Amino acid sequence: MAQWVAVCRLDEIREGRGVSRDAAGVRVAVLRWGEEVVALSGRCPHAGGPLGLGWVEGGEVVCPLHRWRFKLSDGRCTTVRGNSVHRFRCEVRGDEVWVQV
Ligand code: FES
Repeated sequence: MAQWVAVCRLDEIREGRGVSRDAAGVRVAVLRWGEEVVALSGRCPHAGGPLGLGWVEGGEVVCPLHRWRFKLSDGRCTTVRGNSVHRFRCEVRGDEVWVQV
């Protein structure tokens, strides 16, 4: 059953970057781009790279291992079609970021 989990403080995430967190056993990449905070699956479908340690360019997170790119809006991979990552529901509550896993 889905549950909301506090994963980090907002000020832990630098603009255009992310953090990698465990949320109730699920690896999550929490990324910041302008006013937006987005949570995607933290494991890259290519070879398991840590998407939370990647960076954001043009609304896409770039995997730090081999630079596959995923849209923040829906997790779709724009490098190799059919390799999307899950986008979790995510909310900023006060100075904390919460993710539904
Ligand atoms: S592990 Fe992410 S691009 Fe290779």
